[in-house]
Amino acid sequence: MLQTEFCKIKLKNPTVLASGILGTSVDVMNRVASNAAGPVTTKSIGPTEREGHNNPTVVEIEDGIYNAVGLPTPGYLNMDEELKCWSGLKVPLIASIYGTCVEDYVKIANYIQEYKPSIIELNISCPNKDDGMIFSKDKDLTRKLVRAVKSVSSIPIIPKLTPNCDCIGEIAASCEKGGADAICAINTVQKTILHPELKIPLLAYGKGGISGPLIRKTALEKVKKIRGAVKIPIIGVGGVTYGKDAIEMIKAGASLVGIGSGIYFRGMDVFKKDCDEMIKIMRKDGIKSIEEIKNA
Ligand SMILES: Cc1cc2nc3c(=O)[nH]c(=O)nc-3n(C[C@H](O)[C@H](O)[C@H](O)COP(=O)(O)O)c2cc1C
Repeated sequence: MLQTEFCKIKLKNPTVLASGILGTSVDVMNRVASNAAGPVTTKSIGPTEREGHNNPTVVEIEDGIYNAVGLPTPGYLNMDEELKCWSGLKVPLIASIYGTCVEDYVKIANYIQEYKPSIIELNISCPNKDDGMIFSKDKDLTRKLVRAVKSVSSIPIIPKLTPNCDCIGEIAASCEKGGADAICAINTVQKTILHPELKIPLLAYGKGGISGPLIRKTALEKVKKIRGAVKIPIIGVGGVTYGKDAIEMIKAGASLVGIGSGIYFRGMDVFKKDCDEMIKIMRKDGIKSIEEIKNA
């Protein structure tokens, strides 16, 4: 009932582990896979070793998670042992990568595709790094980036967009023009939250990004905007916690549904719980397939 196809890859259900929540370890990603996840996305892999920000980097807020982890990475050239393990994954892998210039993305994509991920996701939307969003707010630069990565890549390329701009539809259209195979949206919503009594920032980095139920409405609105602007498929991410949220995201125009903070709120088996709930809703409403929800 939940089977679907995305970028010519057959999937047993439309849920995806969103990037960054569980790192890059195959053991942990396989635990998610055994809990009915469709594809799993790695934490974003960067050009050179980077420590990330000082603690506190992640705090729970009402109805959400507030983070500024700061993209820690060993750097793609220091990850061979981990990358070799990718072949042991039981579900399709989406390798997320980031860089500070077009050349970084091209080099990393070129290198890691040798380890046979199913898809490469371009994280051009991290709000927790000074230069993390230079691409996804500039449509010409974004198109140039996607085109450059596509020219070296033999697998599907999916840019991940920021909600922290007014032009997400235009940016998505530039990605499509550059040859993107799909779009992923959204990354976290940038905000500065102060401690209520101390009046100092809650996170050491000062600002951060919000995820979880608090951003679900924003994610739906952005996915609808993208749906109106492009023909390529969308991975809808942001605040999906229950099966009903996943169905709403697909109705908004997504083909697959990413889940990140849902793990904090409902556990590693959130994917199975959401899939079971989706099936229940679909049976109740007489819907037979994901395609039917998309076309409703
Ligand atoms: C702790 C944490 C780390 C994250 N790290 C990454 C990352 O490395 N790359 C990325 O593209 N997105 C990253 N994200 C964003 C998520 O993939 C997702 O887009 C966002 O959290 C919204 O989805 P959610 O509400 O289901 O969590 C991170 C989110 C959190 C909470």
